[in-house]
Amino acid sequence: MTCVLCGRGFDPEDEVMTCPDCGLDGTLDVTYDYESAAEKLNQNVLARDPRRDLWRYREVLPVIEEGSIPALDVGWTPLYGSDRLAGEYGVREVWVKDDGRNPTGSLKDRASAVGVAKALDTQQKVVSCASTGNAASSLAGFAATAGLSSVIFVPETAPSAKVAQLLVYGAEVVLVRGGYEKAFDLATEAIATWGWYNRNCAINPYLVEGKKTCAMEVAEQLNWDLPDTVFVSVGDGCIISGVYKGFLDLLRLGITDRIPRIVGVQAEGAAPIWKAFREKARRVQFGPARTVADSISVGAPRNWAKALRAVRESFGEMVTVTDSEILSAIPELARATGVFGEPAGVTGFAGFRKMARQGMLGKNERVAVIVTGNGLKDIEGAKKSVSEPLVVDPDLDQLKSALGDRLGI
Ligand SMILES: Cc1ncc(COP(=O)(O)O)c(C=O)c1O
Repeated sequence: MTCVLCGRGFDPEDEVMTCPDCGLDGTLDVTYDYESAAEKLNQNVLARDPRRDLWRYREVLPVIEEGSIPALDVGWTPLYGSDRLAGEYGVREVWVKDDGRNPTGSLKDRASAVGVAKALDTQQKVVSCASTGNAASSLAGFAATAGLSSVIFVPETAPSAKVAQLLVYGAEVVLVRGGYEKAFDLATEAIATWGWYNRNCAINPYLVEGKKTCAMEVAEQLNWDLPDTVFVSVGDGCIISGVYKGFLDLLRLGITDRIPRIVGVQAEGAAPIWKAFREKARRVQFGPARTVADSISVGAPRNWAKALRAVRESFGEMVTVTDSEILSAIPELARATGVFGEPAGVTGFAGFRKMARQGMLGKNERVAVIVTGNGLKDIEGAKKSVSEPLVVDPDLDQLKSALGDRLGI
């Protein structure tokens, strides 16, 4: 493992999660012996592999024991092509990766699968994390199937569906007043106090490894003909770091020959990584966080170094979108593709739409949009994006008049 800031190297046996010299900002990159991995992981082997989950990329995942792999199916989520969206926005192709189809409803399951496997590998009994909600519900689900206990810290304001998921999976749930930042700080102290296994994605370097499989799948599902540009929503910066790492590992394995341009999309009210990118800053300054997209309502992103690198090294871009652009993206994406995303889940799509409308995408461009979380996770958010349903007595005349007004019939 290598520190993303100072380049210091570590062995897995060192049992560090971040660089002791750089503190929490010094997140670690996990690397492999790519030459030997490439003998077992290449296009031919993958074409014959019947396994339809993220473990098909196991040669470049940090799990040792086969028996540690959780029983839940994770990954190999659908990638839908949409001619309608491509036509509407004047690009050659639009691909929508529906990661809300993972077992607990978000892309975070990729990280939790690896995190829980790693916890079992190292004989841990209790796993813990702070999260805006999805990493939490995901960890709780995977911990439950693996017979581990979980202690979860989420903001008091987390959507109730996510909190319900946590409780159903049997997690010890701590709702923290004061937002995600406070939940993160308290979780960090509690983990240090009680010695639990840390599943905070920006801290535990193995988790981005799970997330990278999303990018690997996009590449493989497109028959290794990579998209030009990939859009992804950004909060803490772990997903975007994972997307970059997935494309980078494919390149290192010699399976592909380039990295797509990665565009990170933040909500206007919580955009510290966007700001640092725009200002060409070396570091991200923490700032306010206010957005309808609770999962990316992050003012103090912990994986900023890897996130900035993902955008810069892929010659990508950062954009912001307003809350109303996020909300209107929910029904638009659902109606065009059938994919119902939560607000943060469709923020990548909202960013695509904005860049396309501003003429920042070419007509030959092939675009992939990652939908990171299922719409049922945040029903209140979804309801803000649509009109009210009709309420009528069971009476045809009343229906005719109500429908007539509505549909003009
Ligand atoms: C649905 C969804 N989208 C996007 C994100 C942002 O991911 P990250 O915090 O890794 O940038 C999250 C994080 O919780 C999420 O749950």
